[in-house]
Amino acid sequence: MAIFANKVQYTKMIFHYHNTPIHYHKQGSGPAIVMLHGFLESSSMWQKIAAVLAKEHTILMIDLPGFGESSMLEKRHTMENMATMVCELLVLEKLYDITLLGHSMGGYVALAFGELFPEKVGKLVLLNSSASPDSISRKENRNRALSIIDRNKDAFIAMAIGNLFNAEEKVKHPLAIKGLKNEALHTSANGVLAAIKAMRDRKDRTAILKNLSCEKHIIAGSNDLILPLEDIITLSKQTKTTLHIIHSGHMSWLTHSSELVALLQGIV
Ligand code: MLT
Repeated sequence: MAIFANKVQYTKMIFHYHNTPIHYHKQGSGPAIVMLHGFLESSSMWQKIAAVLAKEHTILMIDLPGFGESSMLEKRHTMENMATMVCELLVLEKLYDITLLGHSMGGYVALAFGELFPEKVGKLVLLNSSASPDSISRKENRNRALSIIDRNKDAFIAMAIGNLFNAEEKVKHPLAIKGLKNEALHTSANGVLAAIKAMRDRKDRTAILKNLSCEKHIIAGSNDLILPLEDIITLSKQTKTTLHIIHSGHMSWLTHSSELVALLQGIV
């Protein structure tokens, strides 16, 4: 189905990973960029960025399992099985030597992809993301979240989306945040639970990032409340990953989209 957003044509597509329908959008032509969204987001987060980058690239924006219009996988969600799903889609689409761009949780999937299929990655771009595993206190927070969702999924989603923005951003972008919240409320409780468990149980991929031989970039927010800048600076030094800093919080794609697009144009 052909759809027009910002005057750029993109195509809504479905592929079946084992028995799971996975929805994705394809746009543009040229070297491929595969975009993986974060927690409580969907492929729609990339629309503004894709509209610009699709002028010179083939863009694939995937709804990860349990988000957007994609169904859940039959098995427990892990960064590894989501990465394997992405790989099967690339085989189907005959895309090689890709740029893999992941926002936050999408970056965790991108790192698992880099570990499993390093030969397929030409460039890796982590956006407000990290190779580090959850700390003990973060794992405890995830476990608390799991029990809240069982009782009230919608209240959890509203709170979790709010927590992605700092105070200044909440004042500046109330409508966009509301839109994001409304979209996220369509996520099923099982989708949210599966993603939280996958994030909690993901492994440390610092060494994987260090050893990846492709071009590697990390875009960090100077005021990211989820992934503190100091930790990302240390990670970039440890792993020899080029660091770019945007004066934003965790949701740079929404609060600083023009700056982010300009930065990405320089990278890809
Ligand atoms: C995300 O934005 O994908 C999540 O907040 C990442 C996380 O909770 O680790």
